[in-house]
Amino acid sequence: MSNIEESKYETALAEYDENAWLAALDSVLPGIHEADRNAVQIWFRFFPLELRKYLEEAENLEETIHGLAMQGDFDLATQIDTSHKFLYGSRFWPKVKSAIGGRIESFNDENVDLAAEMRSIAEATGDSALTMGITAVGLMTLRQVGGEAFFVTDGAQPAPKGLLAKSPAEIVKIRTEEPSQGFLGFLKTIDKEFRVTWDETEKRARFKIIFDEEIATAAARDQSRNWLGKDERCIEGVIPVECRSAACGTCWVGVVGGAENLTDVEPLERKQMKVFGYGQGDEKKPFIRLACQAAAEGSVSIVIPPWNGVFGKKVYGNVDKVVLEPATTSAAKLRETIDDALEN
Ligand code: FES
Repeated sequence: MSNIEESKYETALAEYDENAWLAALDSVLPGIHEADRNAVQIWFRFFPLELRKYLEEAENLEETIHGLAMQGDFDLATQIDTSHKFLYGSRFWPKVKSAIGGRIESFNDENVDLAAEMRSIAEATGDSALTMGITAVGLMTLRQVGGEAFFVTDGAQPAPKGLLAKSPAEIVKIRTEEPSQGFLGFLKTIDKEFRVTWDETEKRARFKIIFDEEIATAAARDQSRNWLGKDERCIEGVIPVECRSAACGTCWVGVVGGAENLTDVEPLERKQMKVFGYGQGDEKKPFIRLACQAAAEGSVSIVIPPWNGVFGKKVYGNVDKVVLEPATTSAAKLRETIDDALEN
């Protein structure tokens, strides 16, 4: 399939904007196993179509990236076979690529219904409850990177490791399990300890968190690895942070399991998520959170995006501007960046 340049199928997929894709995803969501239900929604927020289109249309890409205060690796084209590694369905990626290739070859200029495409390709790939999420990812990846890049590899994946090597039912159960509270642990109340798993593909990728502690604060206590060597945004722990006051957008995370075990979204976090462009939704306990704001009331499993930025107003428009009271000098600088981004 490597000689595909712009198939009719890709042209048909390009008719739909991000809202249409999210609506299609919503309609297939009930058929997706719980192991991947949040994960696929998170993936769609980690790789937003409208942001990609905005960057593709930029006259000066470097200036545009700077203007959106973007840091890290946001280019899906460099992560075609890895961006989805936090989905259980990742193991079906080669089959999904192959099934999408078959669909391109059989496509005959008919009308495309995105949800129907997701369903039929998922069914052709295996148990659709387990393949639907990764199929939706596959179609959106094709839409964003184009067939020529999409089919360069067959998408072979490493053998599943860590929590993701278990069955879907076990994964869902283990994500929110409480760790042992130790001797006389039953007497613990406010100092009760829970667990944050930050990468389900690794065996020991987790840290402890105390009741009502913010995720970023707990992450900073774990100095078991050279986080800065892994990612220059990781100045404190495994989760990138800068301001700790909802001002920069660096610490956003997806919650694949245990969203109900985090504190409710406060108005500041909700407003800032719109400014950043992270598509958090209106729920009290959504699947995208700021780690410096969300505190734990139980165990959670998260996924850390490879990038951050401030693109809400420029890409989506009409974002409420928030007046912040920065806690640090660094936060004041970040507020300037955000204000600049909102004004331009
Ligand atoms: S660290 Fe800046 S928003 Fe959380």
